[in-house]
Amino acid sequence: PKQYDNILVETKGKVGLITLNRPKALNALSSQLFVEINEALRSFDADKDIGAMVITGSEKAFAAGADIKEMKDNTFIDNYKKNFLGHWAEMTEIKKPIIAAVNGYALGGGCELAMMCDIIYAGEKAIFGQPEIKLGVIPGAGGTQRLVKAVGKSKAMEIILTGSVNLNATEALQYGLVSKVVPADQLVDEAVKTASKIASMGQPSVQMAKEAINKSFDVSLDAGLRWERIFFQALFGTADQKEGMAAFTEKRKPTFTNE
Ligand code: CAA
Repeated sequence: PKQYDNILVETKGKVGLITLNRPKALNALSSQLFVEINEALRSFDADKDIGAMVITGSEKAFAAGADIKEMKDNTFIDNYKKNFLGHWAEMTEIKKPIIAAVNGYALGGGCELAMMCDIIYAGEKAIFGQPEIKLGVIPGAGGTQRLVKAVGKSKAMEIILTGSVNLNATEALQYGLVSKVVPADQLVDEAVKTASKIASMGQPSVQMAKEAINKSFDVSLDAGLRWERIFFQALFGTADQKEGMAAFTEKRKPTFTNE
């Protein structure tokens, strides 16, 4: 894989692993760092040998937020003209599933990055929070929208309005923000294991399942069910559906070709 300045990129079998690597700034998400994340994700998305991705940070910090030093002198008009932070959302166009493996701080933009992923696993010492209010701003990369959907209104209000109510790993699990808590030193392996499992399935069904689930956040139940049914019907045009159902009938393991 290509070399980047702020991230490490490697493959583990069919899984693309991205490790945020600005340790001195606790992986603060500079514009450049996010450009690199999106480029690496796009390149894995286009790689036929990769079926899912994992994004992680260090044991101390997944990411401590947007880079405060980089943005502190920004003006409204510049932000508006360049649609500041708008490019972060490019990662939501990625078709293959992305798992966030969060150790340590996932604050502000770090929490928002994790929430733009499809599954979040937490290391035991993970801390999720949205401290932007203490800087005189608000979350700017989805926190006010995605956190509510993950943990409900009252908790999201408490987290975002105080800026200092954080969720530890156990609380994040209780509220449904994360789906699993793992000892810190096993976190990445566990995330890669789940990503490998996903990558062993047929890509058309995995990608349509991801898209259909994400639709549920955007559209009415009726429209979401319609998307689901059309995808379900369409999958009968794939070789993987024929193989998957033939393998079941013949009592053997399927071999998916992603076609
Ligand atoms: N931006 C820029 N630099 C950051 C940073 C950030 N978000 N977070 C940490 N750093 C830097 C620190 O400035 C420090 O650099 P120096 O060594 O040059 O002083 C280095 O990382 C280590 O940090 P600390 O010394 O503060 O480490 P700590 O262990 O004492 O504290 C912390 C850790 C509680 C996470 C603390 O660093 C912190 O509060 N960070 C800021 C968290 C924050 O406010 N995040 C929200 C940012 S705004 C945002 O994200 C907007 C959005 O919605 C997208």
